[in-house]
Amino acid sequence: MHKNILITGGLGFIGSNFINYLSTKTKANIINIDKITHNFFIINSYNLNKLKNYFFYNFDISNKKKLKDLFRYHNIDLVFNFAAESHVDNSILNPEKFCNTNILGTLNLLQTSYLFWKKNKMLDNGLFFQISTDEVFGSIPHNSKKKFLETDKFFPNSPYSASKASAELLIRSFNKTFGLKTIITNSSNNFGPGQLPEKLIPKAIYNLISGKKIPIYGKGLNMRDWIYVKDNAMSIFEIYKKGSHGNSYNIGGNNCISNNSLIKRLILAFNKKFKTNINFNDATEYVEDRLGHDIKYDVNLKKINKLGIKINTRNFDRNLLSTIDWYLENINEIKKFM
Ligand SMILES: NC(=O)c1ccc[n+]([C@@H]2O[C@H](COP(=O)([O-])OP(=O)(O)OC[C@H]3O[C@@H](n4cnc5c(N)ncnc54)[C@H](O)[C@@H]3O)[C@@H](O)[C@H]2O)c1
Repeated sequence: MHKNILITGGLGFIGSNFINYLSTKTKANIINIDKITHNFFIINSYNLNKLKNYFFYNFDISNKKKLKDLFRYHNIDLVFNFAAESHVDNSILNPEKFCNTNILGTLNLLQTSYLFWKKNKMLDNGLFFQISTDEVFGSIPHNSKKKFLETDKFFPNSPYSASKASAELLIRSFNKTFGLKTIITNSSNNFGPGQLPEKLIPKAIYNLISGKKIPIYGKGLNMRDWIYVKDNAMSIFEIYKKGSHGNSYNIGGNNCISNNSLIKRLILAFNKKFKTNINFNDATEYVEDRLGHDIKYDVNLKKINKLGIKINTRNFDRNLLSTIDWYLENINEIKKFM
């Protein structure tokens, strides 16, 4: 088993949920480095700071010297790379930032891991685990039943997905050229506690709470598979335990729906909770579509099913409710940082 686990981007949405899950499964040291690209992420640190064997450092994964010193100081033997610029809209405004963190930052992590493990004869045990996205595979036509397979070609359509695909290619090259042990997960859209309200679900909840309209791109017909972030955390951990090195694994919720359906389900959950009668047409507004907006993503889950990982789709509405609860509990903090 690994003893000193580096999590990058561990104050972010998925990373912080993963650390919480991981801390229930291991007594290993958990070392989190995060640049804190938005003050909102400080909210996610409150719970993490209470954990035992937890260390936090505030710096950029591109910082070569600090990363090298950290590997030496903590004797890192496992890396989960969550750190990324993660919002497609922002990648359209500033692609360079995405290439710096998602490609060059990942390269720095790969090189540091490889050189440290080689020097200390730890290559047999060291593992580099990359958190990637289903968006690297491009877009599926609206009426097609196709689901992405791990073996599909990359067809990224946004600077975000292109930067994540590039990182995956670098990881593959380190596995093939240097024998670095690697695993990659390609997950679908996550939802749950701790997500910055620039993404659809938290923005919709935030606007519902604040009495503002929910903006929906185009006609709301784009389709995404949705997975609860805690199910993703569990899946990542199971893949870490049972997956094969040099492989990639899709993760998803078996729950592909249009943005219109998603917001309807969310409003329904909200109405049920508060005994309100908010109506979809009154609460939403269609806004100009995102440039190059992918129509549909959906993932084939047979490979993780073979590892015994199965997500219960029937929990979707209950998980939406838990997500609403989290935003309500933290609304004053969130307002401070938005
Ligand atoms: N959210 C999703 O639906 C989704 C789906 C599939 C894959 N992913 C991937 O999962 C990972 C985590 O996504 P998320 O939604 O939690 O994103 P997030 O934006 O909530 O979190 C990213 C975290 O990384 C940190 N970070 C960014 N740049 C950094 C840098 N240069 N150095 C150190 N820290 C840095 C940020 O401060 C933040 O805490 C990303 O790699 C993303 O591509 C996300």
